[in-house]
Amino acid sequence: SVYRASTTAPVNIAIIKYWGKRDLALNLPTNSSLSVTLSQLSLRTLTTASSSAGYSGDSLTLNGKPQDIQSSKRTLACLSHLRSLRQALESVDSSLPKLSGLPLRIVSENNFPTAAGLASSAAGFAALVRAIADLYQLPQSPADLSRIARQGSGSACRSLMGGYVAWRAGSLSDGSDSIAEEVAPVSHWPEMRAIILVVSAEKKDVSSTEGMQTTVATSSLFPVRVQTVVPSRMDSMEAAIRNRDFSAFAEITMRDSNSFHATCLDSWPPIFYMNDISRAAVRLVHDINRASSKTVCAYTFDAGPNAVIYYLEESSELVVGTFKAILGEDINGWHGPFGDRLLSVT
Ligand code: DP6
Repeated sequence: SVYRASTTAPVNIAIIKYWGKRDLALNLPTNSSLSVTLSQLSLRTLTTASSSAGYSGDSLTLNGKPQDIQSSKRTLACLSHLRSLRQALESVDSSLPKLSGLPLRIVSENNFPTAAGLASSAAGFAALVRAIADLYQLPQSPADLSRIARQGSGSACRSLMGGYVAWRAGSLSDGSDSIAEEVAPVSHWPEMRAIILVVSAEKKDVSSTEGMQTTVATSSLFPVRVQTVVPSRMDSMEAAIRNRDFSAFAEITMRDSNSFHATCLDSWPPIFYMNDISRAAVRLVHDINRASSKTVCAYTFDAGPNAVIYYLEESSELVVGTFKAILGEDINGWHGPFGDRLLSVT
């Protein structure tokens, strides 16, 4: 017989960035981070996990392409954690089928082209962990599962919840206190919107893992960011979200994106993720805000040139309309069509 479970997980975009690991094997971060969960109508990973004695070994297929699990330490770490949790259940309840001993087949699909240059490892590992946890009928909470997903990809721990999600860096060396926590549900701020400007669909030249290592080892701005800048921004950002204060939310988001990219430029050799179009998007956001005499939009950039623009529903026409009019021809694609709800409850 074949046992099976399916689930989806959303993409999240950090507004306080995770950049830097204090433990490479466990994926423990140097600082806490905070993200906004995007709507699964727009971007999500759908994963089906199944177990059967008839399978010849563990396998993973992503968008129809077989992946080499054995060479991915991170995937292996997630699978072995989930298996040992299942084993613990089987050892106290002998009526349970012994799924922990059976090969796993994992089939994963994104509802957006992988080539679009949009972060997919977060949704990917979150969906993988949850699908197997469902298959194994594990009693673990989303916070417990976030601890496992974190070992697949740091940012993945924030995709096990919806709305506004903090990843608490924690201080223990075994990582048990390095988990995700929902700061507010999406319903707390239903007017929030996001649009992604696909500036380039190409793969980034320096991976996040590699870039972080270089920054931690070489940037002299980095210790200041980690020790003083981020901790105080986490507090102000949580207050901005609590108070639905868009202007504070926007300023902290933009400053933190700039601070993260500044530590990249300050790395040796320097790392560049933003390009000329990314910088044009930054200027346009500041121009729109200046002309509106209040803050109506904010940008943030991950380890690549694509911009994520946050705005409130009331400013949709102004923000998205201006972006399409001014940068339309330079942009390869837009995620989150005009007026769409982009944040989700998972
Ligand atoms: C810039 O989570 O992809 O998007 O833990 O090495 O897999 P690994 O890194 P990853 O890094 C994300 C970095 C970022 C900021 C963020 O999402 O917080």
